[in-house]
Amino acid sequence: MELALYDVPHGYYMTKKVEPDLSSSDRIGWGGDFFTAPELSPILAKTLVRQILAIDDQLGRPPQFTFMEIGAGNGTFAFDFIQECRRIASDFFHRLSYQIVERSSHLQSRQAARLSNLGGDWGKSHLNWKTSLEEVDSDSIIGVVFSNELVDALPVHRVRMADQRLHEICVADKGGCFVECLDSPLSPKLIEYIEAHEVALSEGQTSELHLAAELWMKQVARLLHRGIVVTIDYGHTHRDYYRSDRKDGTFLCYHRHAISTDPYVRVGEQDMTAHVNFSVLARAGAKNGLDIIGLTTMANWLIGLGVEEFVRDQDQESDDVRALAHLLRPHGMGTTFKVLAQRKGMEAFPLQGLHYPAFFGDVVSSH
Ligand SMILES: C[S@@+](CC[C@H](N)C(=O)[O-])C[C@H]1O[C@@H](n2cnc3c(N)ncnc32)[C@H](O)[C@@H]1O
Repeated sequence: MELALYDVPHGYYMTKKVEPDLSSSDRIGWGGDFFTAPELSPILAKTLVRQILAIDDQLGRPPQFTFMEIGAGNGTFAFDFIQECRRIASDFFHRLSYQIVERSSHLQSRQAARLSNLGGDWGKSHLNWKTSLEEVDSDSIIGVVFSNELVDALPVHRVRMADQRLHEICVADKGGCFVECLDSPLSPKLIEYIEAHEVALSEGQTSELHLAAELWMKQVARLLHRGIVVTIDYGHTHRDYYRSDRKDGTFLCYHRHAISTDPYVRVGEQDMTAHVNFSVLARAGAKNGLDIIGLTTMANWLIGLGVEEFVRDQDQESDDVRALAHLLRPHGMGTTFKVLAQRKGMEAFPLQGLHYPAFFGDVVSSH
């Protein structure tokens, strides 16, 4: 998964699409393989601006407010977010430093092109890019660290319970073709993870382990000095993730908006993804100084932020309203997508987006 998505230069995210019969070279969006919430509608960015302004007040309106977006794709969210700040909060707009952490240099160029029409002078002093979190100084950020559909794109380990033992699903070469093989005993780092998170599968069940996501959360905690981490993605709490009726796990591939379970075809030309275990993120954060504020569904988050106001006066058949309906859909993005909020160096205060929490008590962090 790591190589198929991030190898230079063949990884899926590291190049543009080169299939000859396609008019678009995009990976993300209607012309590509999958769409994301920001590609669907600017509403996620617009509502988030309202939440960020409240966080800015709580932080005492610092002279520089950093909004860090990790994994910015086509730059669509950043564009909509910055435009909205300029439109409704000019004082904040002038204190905003928009920092993108993007692993793919190809996508960095796309983002820069997308954001270049935001006004040269503001961009020169308020926008910057880094390639990895390691380039960011510890304790350096006052503001918000945000990601949308990044964590599902971090590589996972796949495991299967067979003959009452857990095996790692590994990849081998058989006559020039990729084949799967089961490996056991497990490596010490997998055993440590399984014991720490009490992962238990039923016989015949396949699922994923999220070691890269756990490490990512630890890195995020390190660089935040005071502020909030907002992580949006499709995923579940730990208990829900390993439910015995989820027999085949959540690992999937996307190509031209079709879903497949075969990662060994179109390698480097299709997306690979696994749902996020939000409990692992919550626990890894808590261990590294991030207090959990809460977890809710995308629908509840948007409703808490007053999304209804944004569309009240619009034609109910318009594209914007239809897109929003997609984001709120009860058996789709509205509930599969979750929003996790964590804080560091700040007193507890109510976040409007978590007004309807959807999960209560310690269900997020418990095993
Ligand atoms: C599924 S796309 C989501 C893009 C965007 N957030 C959106 O919602 O449209 C994942 C993005 O994360 C980037 N990415 C993946 N791993 C990363 C990492 N470790 N650090 C920074 N960016 C990463 C990818 O290159 C890509 O831009």
